[in-house]
Amino acid sequence: MTDALENLTYEERRFPPSAEFAANANLKEDAYAAAQGDPLAFWAEQAERLDWHTKWDTVLDWSNPPFAKWFVGGRLNASYNCLDRHVAAGLGDRVAYHWEGEPQGESREITYAQLKDEVCQAANALIELGVKTGDRVAIYMPMIPETIVAILACARLGAPHTVVFGGFSADALASRISDCHAEVIITADGGYRRGSASALKPAVDEACDKVGIVRKVIVVRRTGSEVAWHDERDVWWHDLVARQSTEHECEFFDSEHPLYVMYTSGTTGQPKGILHTTGGYLVGCAYTQWGIFDLKPESDVYWCTADVGWVTGHSYMVYGPLANATTSVIYEGTPDSPHKGRWWEVCEKYGVTLFYTAPTAIRTFMRWGDDIPAKYDLSKIRLLGSVGEPINPEAYVWYRTVIGGEQVPVVDTWWQTETGAVMMSPLPGVTAAKPGSAMRSIPGIEVDVVDNDGQSVPDGSGGFLVVKRPWPAMLRTIWGDDDRYVDTYWSRFEGMYFAGDGAKKDEDGDIWILGRVDDVMNVSGHRLSTTEIESALVSHPKVAEAAVVGAKDDTTGQAVCAYVILREVAAPTDAAAGEALIQELRQHVAHEIGAIAKPRQIMLVPELPKTRSGKIMRRLLRDIAEKREVGDVTTLADSSVMDLISTEAKGSTD
Ligand code: PRX
Repeated sequence: MTDALENLTYEERRFPPSAEFAANANLKEDAYAAAQGDPLAFWAEQAERLDWHTKWDTVLDWSNPPFAKWFVGGRLNASYNCLDRHVAAGLGDRVAYHWEGEPQGESREITYAQLKDEVCQAANALIELGVKTGDRVAIYMPMIPETIVAILACARLGAPHTVVFGGFSADALASRISDCHAEVIITADGGYRRGSASALKPAVDEACDKVGIVRKVIVVRRTGSEVAWHDERDVWWHDLVARQSTEHECEFFDSEHPLYVMYTSGTTGQPKGILHTTGGYLVGCAYTQWGIFDLKPESDVYWCTADVGWVTGHSYMVYGPLANATTSVIYEGTPDSPHKGRWWEVCEKYGVTLFYTAPTAIRTFMRWGDDIPAKYDLSKIRLLGSVGEPINPEAYVWYRTVIGGEQVPVVDTWWQTETGAVMMSPLPGVTAAKPGSAMRSIPGIEVDVVDNDGQSVPDGSGGFLVVKRPWPAMLRTIWGDDDRYVDTYWSRFEGMYFAGDGAKKDEDGDIWILGRVDDVMNVSGHRLSTTEIESALVSHPKVAEAAVVGAKDDTTGQAVCAYVILREVAAPTDAAAGEALIQELRQHVAHEIGAIAKPRQIMLVPELPKTRSGKIMRRLLRDIAEKREVGDVTTLADSSVMDLISTEAKGSTD
């Protein structure tokens, strides 16, 4: 590192691309002006990246806001765009995925031609089971090739998929299946995580019993573990799919045909089914994959470490890379299995050139030490990406230095399940990036920071992050709940999309995301709702009341902290009984939602701080959880409550 840089704080440093990178970059500075001058023409040009069976006649119909229609009149098939057209163009032998299983030595290479054949077989299998265009199919799978095949088979048939993260509980799965009425589920016996087989099928069985609408469950054999079997409902993937024809003539759907529903946490207990449709979404993914990751499909090897159960896995592990005929890596397991250098070993093995992960992972690697990545050859990496949560400048600089060899651009990409694709990011070949800032909206997108009245704030001030124009990959609605769509995103500020994030503009007008302004936490880049966890806690028979906050955590960004008032009869008799009960409650949350929602800390307290109108003052609870001086308590109904809680909390963490 040069002396000049060392004298600057991490935040003050600037990292422009090298002259060579800038000269060869896909997206150049002039894209901003082109998009600004005529946004619809710009998007029409991006849409040419796809193969349209019928070309659209209108780029955008915004006559009934906030219900957008993009590429109106156009017809296409997402699976065809990800596979068939590449095979037809002579790229059948190109590797689509290098799959790496968690158990060492297990790997598979899948070319575009093979993937197309398998997707056609799976599509034919779904047809045999009676799946029709428009039917929803739930996918609850580990990180294996069949998961991608399942997704693309659904897309091929126009049967919207809803992928549920494999770490979610049976209850969470059941509520999602029920909300979008999925009668068919694709799953596996289990997958490998942290060195052992982790089961999936039992949760599916439990969810099916709960909702009572599931007709068929297709099960991939991955771990070989024993599974309970329901003959009339369950069918093995290898029995059903392998005997199907590899020919499937696909149908072309309206640009606005639903592609998938992805559930995400909101401010209420019930997760929201975010609906993405075909044309605009695929345009957004294809354009950003190419531009923000500076993708050169003939030579790059790209790895996005997200799980397929989240939106990043959808847009940047499946649709974005495949639409661009990319060669990608997928890895099944955890970064520390069987050793803490596993990810870097995978990068070396496949010669990864573009690498995309979350700040939580970066901070974890920082903690594990520089000597681990130093053992591997990471010299092929030419771009790094970050997503999912604010990246602290120190982690950014570490990532760029230790993983990127101090040479490569790092793109800090801000976006959401709802936005479908990247909205803000440095342009890798243009921007002098500032560590910790997602900088500004990418060409074609108009993001701003506004005050309470929706007025754009001046440079140097903070406010709410909004999007000022519709964009192709935007969510179209919340599944089955148009009113909630309007209320949640389009009612706070007239004519603007409200993202739910706070942000500030620095003196140059570059944007820094500050985090959620609603009751949504961000733990390891995963969105969790405080209300949802509170409901899970209160559903335990011993709990009378619960309040949950996200407290700052050095590794995971935020951590779940819960304050629980027990029912009188449940009061533990001694400290050991109290500790056992806390463990029981943590387990209960894992059972209700999934292990990711397990509180890091539960404090058993006699009271909760409430305003006179009965609202829990989470701000004060956050102060305690983060061990700060408790702030202003003048609006509390009973300010002595804070003394009681602080004493209890102290006792429980000492
Ligand atoms: O708070 C922002 C944060 O993650 C939220 C979106 O979460 P989700 O829908 O699960 O999608 C995550 C992956 C796209 C946002 O509202 N977030 C996402 N990216 C960033 C971020 N916060 C700061 N910087 C980012 N780059």
